[in-house]
Amino acid sequence: MPSTKVYLSGTETAVDPEAARISVFDRGFLYGDSIYETMRTAGGHPVELARHLARLHRSADAIGLVLPWTDDVFATRIAQTHAQTGNPESQIRVIVTRGVGPLMLDPRRSGDPGVVIIAQPLVLPTADAYRCGIAAVIVGLTKTQGSMVDPGIKSGNYLGSIQALRRAIAEGGDDAILCNAAGEIAEGATSNVFFVSAGRIVTPELQGGLLAGITREVVCELAADGGQVVLETRVSPDALRSAEEVFLTSSVRGIMPVTRLDGRTLGDGTAGPTTRGLLARYGGYLARAEAAARSMVGPTGG
Ligand SMILES: Cc1ncc(COP(=O)(O)O)c(C=O)c1O
Repeated sequence: MPSTKVYLSGTETAVDPEAARISVFDRGFLYGDSIYETMRTAGGHPVELARHLARLHRSADAIGLVLPWTDDVFATRIAQTHAQTGNPESQIRVIVTRGVGPLMLDPRRSGDPGVVIIAQPLVLPTADAYRCGIAAVIVGLTKTQGSMVDPGIKSGNYLGSIQALRRAIAEGGDDAILCNAAGEIAEGATSNVFFVSAGRIVTPELQGGLLAGITREVVCELAADGGQVVLETRVSPDALRSAEEVFLTSSVRGIMPVTRLDGRTLGDGTAGPTTRGLLARYGGYLARAEAAARSMVGPTGG
């Protein structure tokens, strides 16, 4: 039976969510002093695990946190937690917190970093959602590179994205798109943004201050395989608003078409031809990942 399991570092085995407990003095809880990765499995194996672990390392380095495990231990524990769920496929979250400490910010006073792995049944948007797309709103909140919470770090501090999402929902949207300090398009609340203009696929450049999404990278590679080079550049809100097609990318949802932007319908209100082409390529990519996982042996295979 599909289920959710949680593994906490320092314990033997993953447990049911109700039995998973962390201290109220954990700095991830107190201050968002944590980093994380979200991924999905295909064929029971985390998709792009190596890239997710590489980004976890980059986030850890950026906040001066020493990861307590080697990549092999992460891979093994993730595989074990997923295996314990009995799910055909899981959505997996790996959280590393700086640890438990007294009620003071000083990171030197923290205990050892702790790891939490959550594996829950993978629930994807419906086929209809992928066909009809979602409504997004460009909100007047900014992501600022070099700011206190650098958008390039996947930290546990998501208050900015939550505020953006609240605003988008209040304006009748399903998702939010944020700008950078220069007023250019940065990324979605939990996704990267792409659009199609004059047949060209475009995405905001990383230098603008945004998370280097793994699906963003994969989509650029899949587009290149199909002979379409994605243009990474500065993007104005007006350029996005006048795009022929818009879509968001993230590890769980994959490619999600945006068919309404700031209350205006894009094209005929369904996923456009370039987005549909990329969705098909992305489906093929997941099918190959699944086939590769099924043919694997070892702790993270099968
Ligand atoms: C702010 C932000 N940007 C982009 C992404 C997409 O990243 P990925 O494709 O690696 O899931 C996420 C994913 O959670 C995110 O939170």
